Amino acid sequence: MGGVEIGDFTALLDPVGQGLLAELSGGAYAEAAALSLASKLRDRYPAPLVATALTQARLRAHAEAKFGSAAATMYFTAQGLEQATRRSVAEWRARRYASAGVRRVADLCCGIGGDALAFAAAGIDVLAVDRDPVTCAVAEANVRAAGLADRVEVRCADVTKVALDGCDAAFLDPARRGDRGRIFDPAAYSPTWGFALELAGRVGELGVKVAPGILHELVPDGAEAEWVSERGEVKEAGIYFGRLALAGGRRRATVLPGPWTMVARGVGDPEPGPVQRYLYEPDGAVIRARLIGELAQDLEARTVDKTIAYLTGDRLVETPFASAYEITDVLPFHVKRLRAVVAERGIGVLTVKKRGADMDPAVLRKQLRPAGPNSAVLIVTRVLGAHIALLGQPARPSG
Ligand SMILES: C[S@@+](CC[C@H](N)C(=O)[O-])C[C@H]1O[C@@H](n2cnc3c(N)ncnc32)[C@H](O)[C@@H]1O
Repeated sequence: MGGVEIGDFTALLDPVGQGLLAELSGGAYAEAAALSLASKLRDRYPAPLVATALTQARLRAHAEAKFGSAAATMYFTAQGLEQATRRSVAEWRARRYASAGVRRVADLCCGIGGDALAFAAAGIDVLAVDRDPVTCAVAEANVRAAGLADRVEVRCADVTKVALDGCDAAFLDPARRGDRGRIFDPAAYSPTWGFALELAGRVGELGVKVAPGILHELVPDGAEAEWVSERGEVKEAGIYFGRLALAGGRRRATVLPGPWTMVARGVGDPEPGPVQRYLYEPDGAVIRARLIGELAQDLEARTVDKTIAYLTGDRLVETPFASAYEITDVLPFHVKRLRAVVAERGIGVLTVKKRGADMDPAVLRKQLRPAGPNSAVLIVTRVLGAHIALLGQPARPSG
């Protein structure tokens, strides 16, 4: 995986490799200085080891976004890092397994161990399986570095053939990237969606990570589908079976770092109405989970248009599930007119957002020539087929 030879990787785990990695830790590694650093290090260490260690230091620096400070002592391959579940999301999932009383989980397609580490840290024993030998070596190193070796058994095998004896639940995170990039069709995942369904029949308690764009129609009756976002960005969807699922199998949106979670209550789509004082931009997880009706009910809001996921209401209700804006002007979408308003108000910092509008926010921003001491948000959207522009500010609760 990622072109790394297993011998090169394991050399990093020897005392000499560890010494070299320690030299590169704590900010000693910087991309700009990497070339000169490499040539100095080659005086004292074998060249292949220097190359592997520098790659590892670079991956650790990138991994901080997913794993925080823990990244500094973890091991990665480029692909393994790209595909790994970020720590916050893995911890949220592990809580689900722990509260369902799972004692030993089969982490199928464990990669570098993003999920396995969180399961183990939550007190669950793990059989972690991946078919790629280098990836398994990396997962093993991560488990040891985290002091969780007594909880995790890493096994290099094909997950479609491995025996799951002794496991009372499973988690499957299929590879969704092929030689030609991302794979969107679950039938083409490795292993396939068909295997996931067969596994659900076999293990009962199963979770499967899927792309956020998964078609709702693919979610089997009785299974729960959850969309998880962090800081406004949808990170993944998961389909859960058996005791791991909400009773009756429902849709759920979870917003991290909260965690805040919203479950479907069978509320229909909200009615459209005129733009009021507040405009809400729902979190992507709420939109993907089709919980706009539930959110509108909670916010006492309506939609601006049947086809657009913006909500509007005359009372500000604080929510982690949407960003709220206080609207000062509802304007026709007319560039010259908007430019005049921006100039008249002295708006120098202008954030342009859009939904359902056929325009490029960056281009519009330039056309409006923002200048002046004030800031504002301009939201372009479509109501009954016509573009409108809403000028406002992020809403702040009073008091
Ligand atoms: C999305 S990654 C898993 C990421 C992991 N959950 C984490 O957080 O680090 C998918 C992994 O599936 C493995 N894989 C794909 N097909 C497999 C199969 N049939 N058997 C075992 N592993 C497989 C790949 O080697 C890859 O490491």
